[in-house]
Amino acid sequence: MLDLKIEGAQVIDGTGAPGSRADVGIRDDVIVAVGDLSGESAGSSLWAAGRALAPGFIDMHSHSDWRLWENRRAESKIRQGVTTEVVGNCGFSPAPASREFLQELRGFALYLPRGMDFRWQSVGEYLKAFDAEGTALNVMQLVGHGTLRIAAMGFARRAPDRKELARMQRLMADAMEDGAWGLSTGLIYAPGSYASTEEIVEIARVAGRHRGFYASHIRGEGATLLDAVGEAIRVGREGELSVQVSHIKAAGRPNWGKVADALALIDAARAEGLDVMADVYPYTASSTTLRTLLPDWALEGGVEAMLQRLHTPEVRERIRRELEAPVTGQSLLDRVGWENIMLASCPQRKDAEGKRLSEVGAERGMDPLDAALELIVDEAGRGYMILFQLDEADLRRALAHPAVMIGSDGSSLAPYGALGAGKPHPRSYGTFPRVLGEYAREQRILGLPEAVHKMTGLPAKRLQLRDRGVIRVGAKADLVVFDPRRIADQATYDEPHRYPVGIEHVVVNGSIVVKDGAHTGSLPGKLLTPL
Ligand code: CU
Ligand code: ZN
Repeated sequence: MLDLKIEGAQVIDGTGAPGSRADVGIRDDVIVAVGDLSGESAGSSLWAAGRALAPGFIDMHSHSDWRLWENRRAESKIRQGVTTEVVGNCGFSPAPASREFLQELRGFALYLPRGMDFRWQSVGEYLKAFDAEGTALNVMQLVGHGTLRIAAMGFARRAPDRKELARMQRLMADAMEDGAWGLSTGLIYAPGSYASTEEIVEIARVAGRHRGFYASHIRGEGATLLDAVGEAIRVGREGELSVQVSHIKAAGRPNWGKVADALALIDAARAEGLDVMADVYPYTASSTTLRTLLPDWALEGGVEAMLQRLHTPEVRERIRRELEAPVTGQSLLDRVGWENIMLASCPQRKDAEGKRLSEVGAERGMDPLDAALELIVDEAGRGYMILFQLDEADLRRALAHPAVMIGSDGSSLAPYGALGAGKPHPRSYGTFPRVLGEYAREQRILGLPEAVHKMTGLPAKRLQLRDRGVIRVGAKADLVVFDPRRIADQATYDEPHRYPVGIEHVVVNGSIVVKDGAHTGSLPGKLLTPL
């Protein structure tokens, strides 16, 4: 007797192999049979003829650790078919937290939901607090280097001394023992940007020794893209661990086309025997905090110090000079332009959401830079922007590359309450259906089994998850049933809070979380820890 049977679907097993018609039988949280199960009885069954049945999608690059606290149902992700999220990316994680630099950590937080009260210090205490209430999907935690650095030395803009470095290494080792999967960096964000490559190597080596991997938002995604990819590879070589280049892209028109060169560097590293892969989201706009516009010295001492500093006219002048000086070729404004920067979230100035900075400046009779600085201050450094600065051809090249998997860089949101506020990047709602609908079915950039592999078997390989990301007897029952002819994202930049269409059923650890497109309220997700 089975607990659940999914009948009649075209099974795309996650390995990249073509689909074939089969039934899948589940007992408890495990797949126990694949084949013709018409003679088997089951507690419940889902009829899926004409539909595709795939392993649940793994979101390789997520920031949901901040949002799942208030969104246990994981609405915008589970409705895409995502059954596991890898969180703690880009150098940000909510733990470890030291008492000494707690205020700094609070300022660093991307978003502060209810429950995010930093009553924890270690990653273990944090994960326990997080896990107490359950989630709809599985979660895997990375430790952010920015968080580690704040715990050891706040927002000091210098190299760590020997004691501070040892502290970070210690915290890294403890985190791995507490159930983390590796280290992430955000090398464009203070305080991560204050770190040398050597510092990263020293900490990454500790993660590697505990069988963790290294995920990096690299030091530059524009003019310095190739050097930055080289640095990530160097961390892998010297730190002796696997490398994941996060959300690979070439930002700014002058840099378009460079994704091919970045992928060539990854290929060369792989040929050398290093384990280097990347992830990508299927959009030509990126998104980050508004304060990322500022040069990194502006954040020295933390967000409070930054806010104070921004009141000084000389500081504003220096920021303007640096942003407008085309000397380095690295300034955001060389490559984007105010008209290509849209405000995504600024709850204190709601009227600006959805507008371009050029527009907001004109409306207020100010220079766009002054308008931006004003918003940074009003939002206490937590406003978000969307930057239209990527090339479609680069994106297609990344999607088609065999070492590139899918990661949303988004969060579990929902079209209601605080979770439905503002105009966040549509990737939080549309990433996976967009790859399957727009890029596999419509544009034929990749085949359907290959696209599914990039959201299942391939990330499972990166994560060394042997019992997920594949449909076979003995694997965990994380599954998604979708209509391959209909699947499509619906979220747009103007109307981002829209679920996709064509995702019919989603099963997590053997329990049905989405049935006929509706959330059942079930919370069967697990906090996954390495064995
Ligand atoms: Cu990220
Ligand atoms: Zn990032």
